[in-house]
Amino acid sequence: MIGEKWTSFRKLIPEKNVVIVTDENILRIYGKDFGDYPVLTIKPGEKSKNLDVINDLTGRLLSLGIDRGGYIIGIGGGVVCDISGFLASVYMRGIRFGFVSTSLLSQVDASSGGKNGVNYGTVKNIIGTFNQPQFVICDQEMLKTLPEDEYLSGLAEMIKGGFIGDAGLVEAIENNIQPILDRETSLLTDLITRSVKIKASIVNNDEREKGIRKILNFGHTFGHAIEARTGLNHGFAVAAGMKIAAGISVKMGLLPTEVRDRLLKLLMLFNLLVDYHISFDDVKSYILKDKKKAGNLMNFIILEDTGKAAVNEITAERLLEYYIKHDW
Ligand SMILES: NC(=O)c1ccc[n+]([C@@H]2O[C@H](COP(=O)([O-])OP(=O)(O)OC[C@H]3O[C@@H](n4cnc5c(N)ncnc54)[C@H](O)[C@@H]3O)[C@@H](O)[C@H]2O)c1
Repeated sequence: MIGEKWTSFRKLIPEKNVVIVTDENILRIYGKDFGDYPVLTIKPGEKSKNLDVINDLTGRLLSLGIDRGGYIIGIGGGVVCDISGFLASVYMRGIRFGFVSTSLLSQVDASSGGKNGVNYGTVKNIIGTFNQPQFVICDQEMLKTLPEDEYLSGLAEMIKGGFIGDAGLVEAIENNIQPILDRETSLLTDLITRSVKIKASIVNNDEREKGIRKILNFGHTFGHAIEARTGLNHGFAVAAGMKIAAGISVKMGLLPTEVRDRLLKLLMLFNLLVDYHISFDDVKSYILKDKKKAGNLMNFIILEDTGKAAVNEITAERLLEYYIKHDW
């Protein structure tokens, strides 16, 4: 429900057996309008995405007497959505859940698609489920309180969506740089709707990520390595990863340089390409870890045009060769 007032979640849930999961920032800013439901609060940020937190929340659900008919509402960004969706999926073998998605990144990406999960150490999203929420509310007014870096981080995922699936979205972003930076609500409602449509059309064809859904990972192979090693915010790491992936796509002879430059220009206009340092050994160890998960051939997402991406099967060794050689 994009463009819907966030408090309307109250109309969608039962009166009892409901619990809200949120983080401390959201509670501070929006908690007074949560209503009378019990609230479980986590510390903000990626560090909360682990099984210890799930364990702790499970104990708190039990103390509240939440049973199989229970309902969890996750109100927050991608971290809260991932945690509350996973918790609801495994608590008593699964109870109902819904999201009020509060960050730009979760509105364009994390709260749709049905993936829920937590990390194991620095290995991201390695413990999780595929399970759809009963509703997702995305209220663009809530984005006004989002810190600048978090907002820009979400824009990186929106730009990714356009480049892999909708050239019209890329054009709409290019034509509205300042209104986007000004967080104009109705424009954001339109752009987020387009982003979610791209994701939905891909996920509808491949919910369990056997094939085409993998293109949503454009920029994430190197992006995750950069995020894990440098601590760069997710969207900035994905922007860096998209720059590398587009560079490799050019080097492979599969992408015209103009399209790569178009992507880089847009990322630069939103200050998403920041300095970071990661050694080749760090990249290599991360990619080889990915290889262990995927088998001999990795799925590397390449860009073919504005609005068109593809899965490229490649060995980790070959990918690393391209990484060294690609145009920076
Ligand atoms: N499940 C999926 O398909 C999927 C897809 C993409 C990303 N993710 C996950 O999403 C997570 C990143 O999400 P995120 O960027 O939203 O991070 P986040 O949930 O940590 O939110 C970022 C920060 O912004 C604050 N915040 C959120 N909404 C706010 C608002 N309206 N006003 C003020 N502050 C607000 C949060 O408290 C937090 O400090 C990562 O863990 C990533 O793995 C999941």
